[in-house]
Amino acid sequence: MNPSAAAIRIQKEYSKKTRKSHALYKKSMSCFPGGISHNIRYFAPYPFYTKFAKGKYLRDVDGNNYTDYWMGHWALLIGHSHPVVASAVRRQTSHGTLFGTVNKLSLDLAYAIKKGMPRAELIRYSSTGSEATMYAVRLARAKTGRRVVAKIVGGWHGYNTNLLQSVNYPFELDEGLGLIQDEEQFVESIPFNDLERSLKILDTIRDDLACIIVEPVLGGAGCITPESDYLHGLQEFAKRNDALYILDEIVTGFRLSFRGAAHVYKLDPDLFTLGKIVGGGLPIGVLCGDKDIMSLCNPVGREKSEVACYIGGGTFSANPLTMTAGLSTLKHLKENKSAIYPKINKIGTRIRKGLKKAFSEGGVDVDVKGIGSLFMTHFLNKDIRKISSALDVGLSDRDLLRKYHFALIAKHKMFFLPEKMGAISSMHSLKDADHLIDATQQIVQSGLLSPAK
Ligand SMILES: Cc1ncc(COP(=O)(O)O)c(C=O)c1O
Repeated sequence: MNPSAAAIRIQKEYSKKTRKSHALYKKSMSCFPGGISHNIRYFAPYPFYTKFAKGKYLRDVDGNNYTDYWMGHWALLIGHSHPVVASAVRRQTSHGTLFGTVNKLSLDLAYAIKKGMPRAELIRYSSTGSEATMYAVRLARAKTGRRVVAKIVGGWHGYNTNLLQSVNYPFELDEGLGLIQDEEQFVESIPFNDLERSLKILDTIRDDLACIIVEPVLGGAGCITPESDYLHGLQEFAKRNDALYILDEIVTGFRLSFRGAAHVYKLDPDLFTLGKIVGGGLPIGVLCGDKDIMSLCNPVGREKSEVACYIGGGTFSANPLTMTAGLSTLKHLKENKSAIYPKINKIGTRIRKGLKKAFSEGGVDVDVKGIGSLFMTHFLNKDIRKISSALDVGLSDRDLLRKYHFALIAKHKMFFLPEKMGAISSMHSLKDADHLIDATQQIVQSGLLSPAK
């Protein structure tokens, strides 16, 4: 079948089985800009509306079940509504959902975090990852007395204005309206996996460099792993120049290992941020790190003349429901880590290998990126032969990627948020990996991904 006929057929199939979702989407347009409450949750022609989620499955309002590879923005390492988490949260609900006071649960979660990540000498909770990275930057500026923040081209640290630069291809344009150009002079972007160029750029700003902030694996930009000594090179530069080295582990923390990416890549950040998994399915951000640096935000017992770095937390920070969900998740992970991490990593390896083989046997040129339980397919073209940076991803064939992900949703009952990386949870199995590889083979054979004639 020619590719456009295959695409039309898939679209028709999706429309036929998601009628209620379509009606809800039309209504949503009158309530929310674009019908959505998170920019990336829209996909064409309209997203299905989820009614229920359990384990590795999502069920939509039309009764379709999907094996989920988006897993709540990659947050649900032990699956949707895990029984251990769900019953703890139910119990806590009857004891109070928002105390607005200090509570022991926040302390218990802090100790659970420190067990896995002893570099978290002191901790501050917030309700989102975006806040955590915003506070990290503020603290770095406070500590160093400098202004410039270095981030990676394509690096995503949430919607905090400080770091809303060079996020989306083609990277050199403003990231939309409403941002003030004067602020942009204090952010410098460096190319991932190109240490020589990164160091050259950093050298030009080193006297005013407050911090380098980096995701150890670029997540939103396309699941790109660091090459050899890239992260160490940045760390070494930061330490040598009295700037802070900040790892954004909001995706990788408790996913790449119980001790996070810092352990896997043997890094020693001054500060790091967590989110997603540590919230156990409820909203969270966490800023952690060196106690001397974190102490700058200690508001207690200061002389009147001594000003603290005021970072927030927010009305809902350390709320007992999130603390409970996070704590039961980390407890479950700790007790089962010798089974869970090898299992999800093995599934990840099988998927990456299997997808590569399926595409290459079908004559479709791809690079499958990822590590551990994260993976993503990129469609290559004559200019881009390999993916090692966000720029490569921007120049790869995004249209084929959208078609591939949509075909998985519409025809094969597998949910990938189109254009985003996939994540495996402990609820997935090797059989799921095989189903995904089979589905991919069928999509390749259908002609959907062939060049248009
Ligand atoms: C690496 C990274 N940092 C920060 C954030 C922002 O977290 P949140 O969406 O909770 O604000 C995200 C979200 O996807 C992320 O992937």
